[in-house]
Amino acid sequence: PKLIFVEHDGTTVETEAPVGETVMRAARAAGVAGIVGECGGGMSCLTCHCYVARAAIDRIAPAGPVERELLGCVVTAQENSRLACQIVVTAALDGARFDLPAWQG
Ligand code: FES
Repeated sequence: PKLIFVEHDGTTVETEAPVGETVMRAARAAGVAGIVGECGGGMSCLTCHCYVARAAIDRIAPAGPVERELLGCVVTAQENSRLACQIVVTAALDGARFDLPAWQG
């Protein structure tokens, strides 16, 4: 499926991601600057924070309790915030858009 990443400066990166991959790893493989993913998906760095475009939210399994709690610590978090390392790519995600915050950390 095709994933669309929109960096904070408006730069758009489109990539074909393999099913079963995480959105964080797909973004890194595509060279998306706004996804750092420092901890490799261990839910400890929070540098994979992204905003899921409304149209895609229902196509993604909801955040678990740990992820929800962690997102509570992210100052730039919004209602549609997720950790990209916790989103698994499925065929249903085709065309999904992820907006990235101005900074990660
Ligand atoms: Fe570190 Fe997602 S990659 S929390």
